[in-house]
Amino acid sequence: MINQLNQLEQQALSTIPNIEIESSLIEYKNTLLGKSGELTVILKWLKDLSGEDRGIVGKRANEIRDSLTLAFENQKDSIKRSVIESRMSNEKEDVTIPFSQNSGNIHPITKVQQEIEDTFRRMGFDIFESMQMTTEYLNFDAVNIPKTHPARDMQDTFWLEGNGNVLATQTSCMQNLIMKHEKLPIRAIIPGRVFRNEDVDATHDNTFYQVEGIVIDKNIGMGHLKFTIKTMLSDVFGKEVSIRMRPGYFPFVEPGVEIDFSCPFCDGNGCKICKGSGWIEFMGAGLIHPNVLKEGWLDPEVYSWFAFGFGLNRLVMIKYGIPDLRYFMNPDIRFLKQF
Ligand code: DAH
Repeated sequence: MINQLNQLEQQALSTIPNIEIESSLIEYKNTLLGKSGELTVILKWLKDLSGEDRGIVGKRANEIRDSLTLAFENQKDSIKRSVIESRMSNEKEDVTIPFSQNSGNIHPITKVQQEIEDTFRRMGFDIFESMQMTTEYLNFDAVNIPKTHPARDMQDTFWLEGNGNVLATQTSCMQNLIMKHEKLPIRAIIPGRVFRNEDVDATHDNTFYQVEGIVIDKNIGMGHLKFTIKTMLSDVFGKEVSIRMRPGYFPFVEPGVEIDFSCPFCDGNGCKICKGSGWIEFMGAGLIHPNVLKEGWLDPEVYSWFAFGFGLNRLVMIKYGIPDLRYFMNPDIRFLKQF
């Protein structure tokens, strides 16, 4: 009997390490240690043996059961390990394979917009998105452009059918909403898509992007405006630029200014891009007109403020030397792939 047991153990211990599939291992374990497995049956016979033999054979049988159980466990672990190892070596990525030529990338307008948003976020500004469809009131009346005012003619508007809705001609259409609904102090930029009824050419499009800025707090002045714009433009061009202000008319600001910045390509010395002047004309800004604040339920005696607005397309064109506005709305992959 002992011989039979030893033989069984030897055979099992040499078979187990060669089984490489977990289900086969379990099956084999059952034939030895399962309910009617070989070793189990031998253990059952024990009761028919005489007292002394039963002790010796029983001890050996238990030893064998323990050694086989251990061998099965070890083999199970080693199968698991080798499955993981082979998966890891099959799934290894080759980082030297070039990216697909067809992968998409971010539109240059979006890219610069995101850079600008980062700069303003660092300065503690909130970011709101402008509306594309708005009302005649928000787009004009609320920002000090009443019906009869000639400034309405400065922007060729797409009027929508029905009661006084328009496609937003300027992100300034968000000023009134923000004044009424945001908690003071307000520091916000509002990027958005705007529309004008223009004939399309290299410098005009019916659809383009603007960024509006608005700051309302106590003791705010032109210096803050200048610093803010200088910081933004220096970030966009990756070098410090200078700012120049000239008087300019916009109905929603008083005083109103036009802001130019020193040409980042020739450092103000004069080149083709700045047409020899060293300056690039860029945007409108000013201190918000009291009428606009009153219309936004704010007291002009208590608060001070500034606002600004610029065309994002124009900034992107200057930054990347893009010669024609029409590229932006044209899904030409050869253009888009360059950024
Ligand atoms: N909304 C103006 C435009 O579309 C740009 C602008 C000028 C916005 C001056 C402002 C500002 O907030 O103060 O031409």
